[in-house]
Amino acid sequence: MAENDAKRAAAEAAIAEVRDDMLVGLGTGSTAAYAIAGLGRRIAGGLRMSAVATSLATETAARAAGIPLLPFEDVSQVDIAIDGADEIDPAFRAIKGGGGALLREKIVAASARRMICIVDASKTVRQLGAHPLPIEVLPFARSFVSEAVRGLGGEPRLRLGPTGEPARSDQGNLLIDCVFGPIADPEALAAALSDIPGMLGHGLFLREIDALVIGGPNGIERRERSTTVR
Ligand code: 5RP
Repeated sequence: MAENDAKRAAAEAAIAEVRDDMLVGLGTGSTAAYAIAGLGRRIAGGLRMSAVATSLATETAARAAGIPLLPFEDVSQVDIAIDGADEIDPAFRAIKGGGGALLREKIVAASARRMICIVDASKTVRQLGAHPLPIEVLPFARSFVSEAVRGLGGEPRLRLGPTGEPARSDQGNLLIDCVFGPIADPEALAAALSDIPGMLGHGLFLREIDALVIGGPNGIERRERSTTVR
């Protein structure tokens, strides 16, 4: 199965869980885009649902797909969040934020009664860290946070946009991709990062994900957190 087919298959399997009257958290990225398109088709076929978006790009895609949106400011809980990941390990610990939406993605995931992560098989890893860990940083604190990341053993790389300017999150903040290499203790790293003033959010999702749908060469594999062994 080609990578895009695997992403689409994982997304289609996840959206099959969406039922009438559910409020769905829509993730960001190319895998989540398949979920958005699929939900749009289901709405055209009669499904009644509404959604919140984790990014401005997702908001635009959801509107184009005909998905009714609520402002997340008015929402404290969603029924299901469906989102991709850059890496995920056997204990459902993930690195997210390749698309720069990690802060909103984590808030929506934390608000979800059930969070389904959808990936192609290339995203599953034994140990996190081959993918740089994105963090969102207050521009005022760029140098301070970068030095603190170095102190934790990471190499901070300011993310740049297509024109070479610093990339900005939807909130107008900076994104720094931190190269740590293999992360031996994701919980300790998450705690240390969270202690840095000006570090507004990191891409380690350690507790949010309840279910994983993997699209691979042999079709779909579904895993539930309760059945995984740490
Ligand atoms: C966006 C994300 C994405 O879920 C992650 O980057 C995976 O993207 P894709 O589905 O395009 O491979 O965290 O911030």
